[in-house]
Amino acid sequence: MEAKKIPETILNSGQKMPLIGMGTAAVPLPPFETLIPIFIDAIEAGYRHFDTATLYGSEEPLGQGVARALQLGLIKSRKELFITSKLWCTKAHHDLVLPALKTTLQKLGLEYVDLYLIHWPVRLKPEAEDAAEFRKDYVIPFDIKGTWEAMEECQRMGLAKSIGVSNFGIKKITSLLENATIPPAVNQVEMNLAWQQAKLREFCKQKRIHVSAWSPLGAYKTTWGSNAVMESPILKEIASARHKTMSQVALRWIYEKGASAIVKSFNKERMKQNLDMFDWELSQEETMKFTQIPQRRVCTAEDYVSEDGPYKSLEELWDGDP
Ligand SMILES: NC(=O)c1ccc[n+]([C@@H]2O[C@H](COP(=O)([O-])OP(=O)(O)OC[C@H]3O[C@@H](n4cnc5c(N)ncnc54)[C@H](OP(=O)(O)O)[C@@H]3O)[C@@H](O)[C@H]2O)c1
Ligand SMILES: *[C@@H]1O[C@H](CO)[C@@H](O)[C@H](O)[C@H]1NC(C)=O
Repeated sequence: MEAKKIPETILNSGQKMPLIGMGTAAVPLPPFETLIPIFIDAIEAGYRHFDTATLYGSEEPLGQGVARALQLGLIKSRKELFITSKLWCTKAHHDLVLPALKTTLQKLGLEYVDLYLIHWPVRLKPEAEDAAEFRKDYVIPFDIKGTWEAMEECQRMGLAKSIGVSNFGIKKITSLLENATIPPAVNQVEMNLAWQQAKLREFCKQKRIHVSAWSPLGAYKTTWGSNAVMESPILKEIASARHKTMSQVALRWIYEKGASAIVKSFNKERMKQNLDMFDWELSQEETMKFTQIPQRRVCTAEDYVSEDGPYKSLEELWDGDP
């Protein structure tokens, strides 16, 4: 049976992006020999968009999964895939961006990524890379202008078809746009029923920046996640009334808000379940009910905030929307 084609959006770069992507972050990360067949399963299930990052350690097994899927004929060409990776904070410096992307491409075994994101509006000292424990004094001032200039160069060189940011608030995007030649195509942020991001979504829409939702299920049952989405009584009620799973309703809500969902499952049944939500609609009444869900970030990233650091409060890190 042929998997159904996933709807796509056209980014401001002119590139197409499937509106569901497979997340690849897991702590601890399973060994490569476990991960490679998982990524092949995902391609078989119909996923064409994958979200990785230098931080996750999943670039290499993802690349191997892609290579194997090509050998197996599950896809005819690499062009059928949309692959995102992200610049880690230790490389958020004008001169370190291009070398970091080249390392990423080598790990993926690809000539280009479809999307390259600045992972956080944060720069970390090089020591942070191999440190066993995070220290707040690793955080140093972030240079938006210099870092973005280097990102633009990556796109001009064809090593990234589109470039964007992640975890940027309204103020930070505004200052990035002040000197940008290429606007970011995407802002990938936490977005789910328990952190709906109405203000940021409206702003990004005006600026023609596509919003991608990470932790769309609230990172359920992970070390960094919460049960605010997947154990929400409101979600549960609507899902059971509609004979859908809670994850399908949570993802459907994101899709109807015009965002893409980056959802992680390493289980083939749940992978398929998560893709199966494009052929029905939420009613206006149901959408209204979702506005009653208490709002709170799953991930506040307090690590990056300290009295002596560049971000002195969560307000500053999140541009007044902590
Ligand atoms: N840019 C950033 O800063 C950033 C931050 C966080 C995440 N991300 C990206 O976004 C991706 C997704 O976010 P996330 O991994 O934090 O959380 P998530 O996708 O909201 O939730 C993943 C969790 O939900 C479970 N799950 C998946 N489908 C399910 C279903 N149908 N029913 C029940 N449980 C289900 C998964 O377990 P199973 O695997 O066992 O199904 C896993 O424990 C990440 O993998 C990463 O690629 C980006
Ligand atoms: C934009 O460039 C100008 C001129 O170099 C500089 O004064 C300004 O601080 C820059 N803005 C940002 C946000 O970097």
